[in-house]
Amino acid sequence: PTMRLDVVSIFPDYLAPLDLSLIGKARRDGLLDLRVHDLRDFAHDRHKSVDDTPYGGGAGMVMKPQPWAEALAAVAGSGAEGARPRLVVPGPGGAPFTQAMARELAAEPWLAFACGRYEGIDERVYEYAAQDLGLEVSVVSLGDYVLNGGEVAVLAIVEAVARLLPGVIGNAESLVEESHEDGLLEYPVFTKPASWESAPGVTRDVPTVLLSGDHGAIARWRHQQRLERTAARRPDLLHGSQAAPGSSASGAL
Ligand code: ADE
Repeated sequence: PTMRLDVVSIFPDYLAPLDLSLIGKARRDGLLDLRVHDLRDFAHDRHKSVDDTPYGGGAGMVMKPQPWAEALAAVAGSGAEGARPRLVVPGPGGAPFTQAMARELAAEPWLAFACGRYEGIDERVYEYAAQDLGLEVSVVSLGDYVLNGGEVAVLAIVEAVARLLPGVIGNAESLVEESHEDGLLEYPVFTKPASWESAPGVTRDVPTVLLSGDHGAIARWRHQQRLERTAARRPDLLHGSQAAPGSSASGAL
């Protein structure tokens, strides 16, 4: 089953990395049908303008509704009869993007992404997409910081979603034992050599339990490491959304 992804942006070149690595391979293998569209193709005035000053005043520019409406209508109408994409709009004012949301999006047959720039897209575009085009619209934030536009967020979201699709990652087992799949951060990992000379006369050794061959002891050690690491770096994951007052995220682990 091929998952279809459409991305609309004024900087289509920003999405070029989606040709690389596992995502590029998934596209070539036919697991992903990923299409990037230039919003300016839907701007028809002489200067192909896509933005204008905000009503009510304030800094910056707002993306005009008409090019967005045409672009989204063209994308939404380009599938099978009656098929509609779920519309994902990255923005710092959205719902937090999590592993759970990546799973939810990976279950959709078709996603469309609208990359805003400047101060955002005219709010009426969201109404139009929902009411006139019949799209489910989800505004999604990568985290509490501000990017210049949605493109880099789309790279992250597409990677998080696509790697969950059957066949994209060779070893599906590597998907279950990772951070954010069960609420704890991952344990530290080591490879050969068991004793590494990082500078002349300085050796750094792999924890001896990992060389012991005692699978029960290894499992207990790894679980303890996950708890300590989560407590040090992400206490919010252990105690719900409220971090304990005075707790530090800069533990030694
Ligand atoms: N666009 C700008 N800032 C963003 C953020 N934090 N997450 C997703 N998209 C964005």
